[in-house]
Amino acid sequence: MLSLVACTKGTSAPAVIDAGVALVDDCTYDTKLVAGIPGSPGHLIASERNPNGASELATLMRTFVDDWRAARVALDVDGGSPAAVSPKFPTHRKIRCSWPTDAADRNPTFDGFAKNYVRAVKAFDAQPGREKYEGVLDACKACHEVSCGGPLEVIEGLRWK
Ligand code: HEC
Repeated sequence: MLSLVACTKGTSAPAVIDAGVALVDDCTYDTKLVAGIPGSPGHLIASERNPNGASELATLMRTFVDDWRAARVALDVDGGSPAAVSPKFPTHRKIRCSWPTDAADRNPTFDGFAKNYVRAVKAFDAQPGREKYEGVLDACKACHEVSCGGPLEVIEGLRWK
């Protein structure tokens, strides 16, 4: 199922979704990415799913999928307490400063959607539960609808029910 991730580019208006939530600033659109690190162009990370190797961003996306699936199982299926779910912001905020497969994909439109995502993650961390969880998935979907359509099925598969 997770192999259906080919990116289909859509055309879209630029995102205007920076509503001014304070974000830590060592990982922003202005952050210069370091050449040669694992997941950078020419240094893709070995991956069972992707024979060509995975970028830093693609690897982070896999972490997102795993983290949200685990959070939903803990809260919904296992009926766990919100306090048992670890904050996602510390790792997920890296979306704004990770190498994509195609460096040109890290552009202002992407960053607008990335900020929107980080904001949804912070809202979840503050109040872990169904409503904020669905808000996170809406933020995944908003970006993927315009940038990379392949994973939409994976995103919908993470819905609360
Ligand atoms: C700001 C835009 C954006 C947001 C938000 C976003 N994605 Fe992505 N996603 C991308 C881009 C761009 C790629 C392609 C990365 C690459 O090829 O380097 C990608 C790739 C993926 C992949 C394929 C990874 C692979 O192995 O090739 C999956 C699965 C995925 N995203 C799921 C998600 C989920 C789930 C969320 C929310 C929890 C999410 N994405 C949020 C832009 C986004």
